[in-house]
Amino acid sequence: MEITATAIDKVLTDLASQPDPRWKTLDLDQQRKEIQAELNSSAPKDGMMRLLTRMQFQSAPDLGEIDWESELATFQPIEYPKYYLQPFHSVLGGWLSESAAMGNRVAMEALFENAHPQKSLGVRDEIAQLFPEDARHILDLGAGIGDDAAAIARRLRSATVTAWEASPFMIIVGRLYHKELPNLRWQHGLAEKTELPDNSVDAINMTYLLHECPDEIKQIILEECWRILSPGGQLVVTDALPGALHSYRGFFEPYKEQWLKIDPDKLLREAGFIKIKAYQFAYSDWTRVGEKPE
Ligand SMILES: C[S@@+](CC[C@H](N)C(=O)[O-])C[C@H]1O[C@@H](n2cnc3c(N)ncnc32)[C@H](O)[C@@H]1O
Repeated sequence: MEITATAIDKVLTDLASQPDPRWKTLDLDQQRKEIQAELNSSAPKDGMMRLLTRMQFQSAPDLGEIDWESELATFQPIEYPKYYLQPFHSVLGGWLSESAAMGNRVAMEALFENAHPQKSLGVRDEIAQLFPEDARHILDLGAGIGDDAAAIARRLRSATVTAWEASPFMIIVGRLYHKELPNLRWQHGLAEKTELPDNSVDAINMTYLLHECPDEIKQIILEECWRILSPGGQLVVTDALPGALHSYRGFFEPYKEQWLKIDPDKLLREAGFIKIKAYQFAYSDWTRVGEKPE
């Protein structure tokens, strides 16, 4: 079957929504151009089309009507760095859109459909097992709708888990999904600037955050993790295998070339973490656990 750029564009346009006009920092014309350029690239788009098809068959909780206007009004706008304001995954508005937040669960379920018997939620339960029983304060950086943070909070009831996320849209959806968890908190902010005290956190999780950030920000985020983790504290990082982003061409991924060069062990080692352990919970992912020295 021949997949034309126009057909793909139609699918993606249908999926996209207009972002809230208050996020004026977004340059939507530029975003449209970037989405179009990715769609027009000569790389095969079959992986993307399969994923979009699988997404139609996934389920997510029915959240009913969300009053976006009043929900968004409760957030203080933060100064977003330029790299954050791109149309990630070819969603117009990128992270700052209803589509990205409302589509997150089904996209992740579709992505992991053939990779784990319980799909993405199963992978999240596996990640949750990696956290020490005695951890009291755990952060999930770039938490999205908080499915990892919730899995950790469910497993470690006496820990406080903070889902740290820059997009209010993700937080609004995540809070509705996980409202039954009293030990799950939400924080609107950037991972590279937590402003938490040194040595104040027992463990940190990051899933699918680093590949979305430029190299210099990856480094700053890892330095921030090092700074706020207590000695002996644990960092758990899960992300895509280096070539995996290229198998979903058509979805805008600005740092996919940088990601090809990533060596997970080196990444953690060079950031100062020791006792690095490797895990793999899905065919397209790696997980590493590192420790900040005592
Ligand atoms: C691919 S999603 C992954 C979400 C979640 N960790 C998961 O596993 O489903 C990346 C998330 O990171 C957030 N994000 C990207 N850069 C960030 C940053 N610098 N600080 C905080 N959040 C960030 C985005 O808003 C988005 O929700």
